[in-house]
Formats: sequence, structure tokens, C-alpha cells
Amino acid sequence: MKKTNCQVSRGTAKRSKKPFFDAKDLRIIRDDFINTLAISPSSVDLTVTSPPYGVDVKYGNYDDGVPYSEYLEFTRRWLAKCLYLTKSDGRLCLNIPLDKNKGGQQSVYADVETVARQVGWRYHTTIIWNEQNISRRTAWGSWLSASAPFVIPPVEVILVMYKGSWKKTSGSGRSDISRDEFMSWTNGFWEFNGRDNAEPETNPVWTFGGESRKKIGHPAPFPIELPMRCIKLFSFVGDTVLDPFAGSGSTMIAARQTNRVGIGVDIDRKYCELALARIKQLSLLV
Ligand SMILES: C[S@@+](CC[C@H](N)C(=O)[O-])C[C@H]1O[C@@H](n2cnc3c(N)ncnc32)[C@H](O)[C@@H]1O
Repeated sequence: MKKTNCQVSRGTAKRSKKPFFDAKDLRIIRDDFINTLAISPSSVDLTVTSPPYGVDVKYGNYDDGVPYSEYLEFTRRWLAKCLYLTKSDGRLCLNIPLDKNKGGQQSVYADVETVARQVGWRYHTTIIWNEQNISRRTAWGSWLSASAPFVIPPVEVILVMYKGSWKKTSGSGRSDISRDEFMSWTNGFWEFNGRDNAEPETNPVWTFGGESRKKIGHPAPFPIELPMRCIKLFSFVGDTVLDPFAGSGSTMIAARQTNRVGIGVDIDRKYCELALARIKQLSLLV
């Protein structure tokens, strides 16, 4: 599998309430999300994130190859923390793979959805994201033989959940989604380029110079289109949008471009620096 991912932290970051960066409507927090004290309880309207996947890829100083049971325990802890920080009518958009085959087949989506409900999240829907990334098709198992072939779905999902009530009553009540966007995005099959082509040059609003993940400097940035769609579909203008695994800051960029308050957390200082640099380059600081 070509895709790389990020480490599951073991909570070694220094604990502080002081953010790495704090400006009007934008906060970057360098910390372990599970233990951070820098975000107020019941303050978040929408979380959009792509957590570490635990696919055994060596990443810088880190290794995300924890046993699957440990990965699910990490998932349980961060999902519980996220619920605690979310308003009663708040929502969660969680980008995860359907499954994984590295280190043994696991039904990641089914397991994460189960854990999310166990900690108190309620299920709303699942969006299928067709990344249009055929380069993922690398493992065949037993070639041309029924002995042990591998079937690999070239899609990911966005699991949509909520805390207390799906009907949103808090916030400005102001939506900024167009008719065409609404009609297209409420069809739960989304097709746009994935991480290898994270930000298409063709869309000047969402672009970061059309750079690849290599150029962006993060192994797994999702395209800004992903948080952009989630934010416009599921939150009001002025809402607080959180990414607990902010990486290169894609969710914060989308939040700033749509006049939401963006909060991003990452355990790695170099990604906090990268996120800030991208936001500055796009002149999104107010
Ligand atoms: C899949 S990447 C997110 C990429 C991001 N969506 C983007 O567009 O760049 C996951 C991120 O989680 C961070 N991370 C891992 N464990 C963490 C933890 N316990 N708390 C906060 N961040 C963590 C990693 O440093 C990595 O940048």
C-alpha cells in the first residue's frame, strides 16, 4: 500500500494551556490531543479530522505500527476526549479507511464506528470518498489464483456522527453553501483526488500551488476539498471547527477560508510550524 501515515502518540508532549499560535479565529496547539488542556469543554461545533491509521509505517522519529488492540484503545480515548469538547448539537466528520491489510486484515471502519458509539457518539451517515487513486492497487495476494487473492477497495470513508441532537440549534444559523454544492454533496458518494494530488491547481480557492504531499511536507495531508465540504455542509458561518490531528493544517485552512474559527492540534512541532506557514502563505490570518 503506497499510502503513508502518522504515529500513534504515547502522550509525551509537555502539557501547557498556552497555544503554539493564537490569533483571532485561529488557534494551533502543539500537544497530545488526548491530554491537552488547551480547549474548553463543550466548545466545538464540528470536528473534521483524519487520525493516524496505525499501518506500521516508520515516520521520522515515530513508528505507527502499534498492535491493533492498542490502536483501538487510542481511538477510544481520543474519541471520548473529542466528545467532551463538543457542544450538545456538535458533529464529527471522521476520515478513515474502510479496512487495512498491512500487518493483517482489519475492518477499521466497522471497528472505529463501534468504538465511537460505545463512547457516546451517535451515528448519522457515512460518505464514501472515491480518491481516484489507482496507484493504491499494489497488492494482489495470490495472482490469478483463488488461493488467497486480496480485494482492496480504492475508497475511504467519512463517518459522520453527532453528540446529542442532529438538528443544529446553536450558532449563527447562517449557511454559505450554494444550491449546486448542497445537491451534489448530499449525495454520499464524493469523488475528488486524494492525497497524492492533494490540492488541484484547477481550483484557485482551495489550492496550495497544486503541490503534492511531498512538496507540502507532510506524509498524509488530505485535500482541502474534504474539510471544505464538511465545513460548508455541516456547520454555520462563525462556528468553531476542530482538527485534533491537524498535520499540515488543511482543516484550519478550510475553516479560515469559510469564516469559521479554526482550532488545530498536533503533537509534532514541525507540523504546527508547517500548518502556520501554509496559513500565512495563503494570507488567511486576520
Ligand atoms: C493523518 S495525519 C493528519 C493529516 C492532516 N489531515 C493534513 O491534512 O495534513 C495525523 C496527524 O496526527 C498527529 N498526531 C499523532 N498522534 C497525535 C496525538 N496524540 N495528538 C495530536 N496529534 C497527533 C501526527 O503528527 C500527524 O500530523
